Amino acid sequence: MIPPRLKYTQKGLWILDQRLIPWSIKKIKAETYVQAAAAIKDMVLRGAPLIGCAAAYAYALAFKEKFFSSKSQIRNYFLKVEKTINSSRPTAVALFASSNRMKKILESFLSDHKEKIGPLDCLNLYKEILKEALKIEKEDIDSTLAMAENGIKLLKKNSRVITYCNTGALATMGIGTALGVITKGYEKGKISFAYSCETRPYLQGTRLTIWELQRNKIPSALITDNMAAHIMKTEKIDAVIIGADRIAANGDTANKIGSYQLAIAAKYHNIPFYVVAPCATFDLSLKNGDGIKIEERSESEVTNIRGLRLAPKSIRVRHPAFDVTPNSLISAIVTEKGIINPVNTKNVLQALSI
Ligand code: MRU
Repeated sequence: MIPPRLKYTQKGLWILDQRLIPWSIKKIKAETYVQAAAAIKDMVLRGAPLIGCAAAYAYALAFKEKFFSSKSQIRNYFLKVEKTINSSRPTAVALFASSNRMKKILESFLSDHKEKIGPLDCLNLYKEILKEALKIEKEDIDSTLAMAENGIKLLKKNSRVITYCNTGALATMGIGTALGVITKGYEKGKISFAYSCETRPYLQGTRLTIWELQRNKIPSALITDNMAAHIMKTEKIDAVIIGADRIAANGDTANKIGSYQLAIAAKYHNIPFYVVAPCATFDLSLKNGDGIKIEERSESEVTNIRGLRLAPKSIRVRHPAFDVTPNSLISAIVTEKGIINPVNTKNVLQALSI
């Protein structure tokens, strides 16, 4: 069992601190939206769908016991909250999708009220926002189950796969995206073995994915990222399965840095490369992946491991946290609505409109 990642209570939002896994299982409590946004930024929680759920609950924290006397006060306050939440992490579109849904709740509230507002109105707005956050969580859980059912259709019996970053229960409120397919696939005899790449620099594979695979008793091994092509060449690998943080209209996919080189290696070895992501991950405002904003994270995540500096001092460091895999390298995208294959704009738009 993977411990609960988020729990909203009247006292605050409890968050499983993923920075400590696998060494200890601890939660922290965010009592304000500023604390919740900081938890997203500092990677107390991570993974695109979970970031989306946490962002939704951050709005609930922002409007809990918050009283205004006019619509313009509420509007200004919402803009301030939205700015803080939206600036926490720029790549995962699920975060912005949650903000947009909360904006719709606000707009509908504002259009139903006169300029002067009373405490009861504010309480009702909070209730609507919390209801929407719970709905976002439920949709996330349901979509992971549907993606797993769809994803296993792509796999032959006893497949051996490589996965990247962490896309499991820890990255969602449900069973995960790519790792959800692997978990369900193992249950159904479709997966016999999974490799977890370590995922430098933040080591989500070393700390989180192999831990989930072990907890779920799935035969698996940890490899460093630079071992993947060798394993593809020398062993039977049936598929590479990854998640996504943002997918453009043509299927170009932003995911954890290193996904792109894995896709190139998979193509070279004729191994199918599958992306598993809920519909909320698509950003149809972007024609292709060129416009996807790539988060740059701190140098110390590259130079240090758990506080120990490995690199010399005073060097230049780069840390783009995501890269974009072009649609031509992606064999199929699995969503909760079905499978997109081949991956192109026509098929993406058709799949999302069902
Ligand atoms: O920086 P992270 O750990 O939030 O990055 C996570 C990933 O890149 C995952 O692969 C992605 O969010 C898909 S998860 C379901």
